[in-house]
Amino acid sequence: MNIAILLASGKGTRMTNHQVPKAFIDVGGKPLLYYSLSTFQNCSLIDQIVLAVPKEYLKTASKYRDIYGLNKLAHVIVGGVTRQESVRLALDYIKAFPEDIVLIHDSARPLVSERIIFSNIQIASKTGAVATVMPTNDTIIVSKNGDVVDDVPDRSKCFIEQTPASFRFDVIHRAHQEALKDHINDISDDVKLVKRLGVEVVMVLGERKNFKVTNEEDLEYLLTLLGK
Ligand code: CTP
Ligand code: MG
Repeated sequence: MNIAILLASGKGTRMTNHQVPKAFIDVGGKPLLYYSLSTFQNCSLIDQIVLAVPKEYLKTASKYRDIYGLNKLAHVIVGGVTRQESVRLALDYIKAFPEDIVLIHDSARPLVSERIIFSNIQIASKTGAVATVMPTNDTIIVSKNGDVVDDVPDRSKCFIEQTPASFRFDVIHRAHQEALKDHINDISDDVKLVKRLGVEVVMVLGERKNFKVTNEEDLEYLLTLLGK
């Protein structure tokens, strides 16, 4: 079974002109989260979707199954204070076998493609752990204090991470339980949590249009891409 966790429980503090959480911002008559939700719904390899939303939006989001005809939307749950917590709470809802594949996606990436979802599932089924990445065209600078340059790593060794990240259920479940045991609750990246276990994570190629809507400029760019 292939299960998608769709994260929509953030506040969107970097979206300065909106009163609603980022995932619920109106984009052409539909909430932002609808776009990735419908892509997962329409993907033949996806069996089930778990959606994490803020507490105040539980009622609203619970109606999406009927409003938008999303028969794969199995659970709408209240997310956590941190992204890590939202993922852990979603994992708690999943009744899965160890070998089932869990895809974790930011609803803030509305233009995820079926191709990306397919290659995540294909490679995660073989290897157990997958990160979606893009090679970087720009050189990356590392700065500890944000003022001065500490390091300029070799560009060919740098990649930008996107989502989904996908794992065998036993791998991602263990990663979150180990983090909890070690009092770690604010690592926003599932790949980093899985790497703590010493598990190898294989990279699959993302797409430029699978960018994350983070600020108002990103939203304008999205509206342009959608022709809205
Ligand atoms: N997310 C979540 N639960 C949280 C925090 C984040 O489900 N407690 C989700 C967001 O809804 C988003 C994804 O994780 O889809 C990536 O996070 P980010 O882009 O940082 O979104 P926000 O945390 O909402 O935005 P900001 O950091 O600007 O407040
Ligand atoms: Mg955030």
